[in-house]
Amino acid sequence: MQLLRDKIIHNSQIVSDQILRVDSFINHMIDPNVMLEIGREFARRFSDAKITKVLTVEASGIAVGLTTAMALNVPLLFAKKKMPSTLQQNYYLSNIHSFTKNESVDIYVAKQYLSCHDRVLIVDDFLARGEALKGLTQLVKQAGAELVGVGIVIEKVFQGGGKNLRDSGVRIESLIKIKSLEGGKLQLEE
Ligand code: G4P
Ligand code: NA
Ligand code: NA
Repeated sequence: MQLLRDKIIHNSQIVSDQILRVDSFINHMIDPNVMLEIGREFARRFSDAKITKVLTVEASGIAVGLTTAMALNVPLLFAKKKMPSTLQQNYYLSNIHSFTKNESVDIYVAKQYLSCHDRVLIVDDFLARGEALKGLTQLVKQAGAELVGVGIVIEKVFQGGGKNLRDSGVRIESLIKIKSLEGGKLQLEE
């Protein structure tokens, strides 16, 4: 993960003690080589997991999800934040509360794309307090699918969002773990 690590160290901006901006390679402009590296690494780490589908939530999760799905040779399904009028009643729905943005959004996936036969890998760009992850795991549960793991690009460990899911036995693989952003200093694990 040398490319990703170098980008985080040299091309990210610390916005506050809580927030790291990665707009030049993940959240606004996307570096395709970084995304390829990310996708291949998740595929390698979950190569034995018999994954049938990658699941994420729009918008920033899609690039991460696409390279991961390509490397695993399975479809990418992304939850939508606006209910498409074509979905009618045939969707699973859950709610995400964002502490960063102080708002709640419902997320949707069509029932026809997620079933009890699926073995799902959830991926996302950030893990902060774990709200997005909680919403996505609820969609997997509603479908009766199996959650085989979670792949996170950047986990802000100090916000504790991975704890509940890890305690319940779910394997979370984070490529970059941030211990602290305090005082404008980026501290990475290991
Ligand atoms: P949580 O899901 O882990 O609880 O996080 P939170 O509600 O705080 O995050 C809300 C949004 O902010 C999410 O994007 C999340 O990816 C993003 N986010 C959280 N922490 C950081 C950070 O340190 N840096 C950056 N750049 N983003 C962060 P979203 O609302 O789903 O938006 P989108 O980008 O997917 O459209
Ligand atoms: Na995201
Ligand atoms: Na985001």
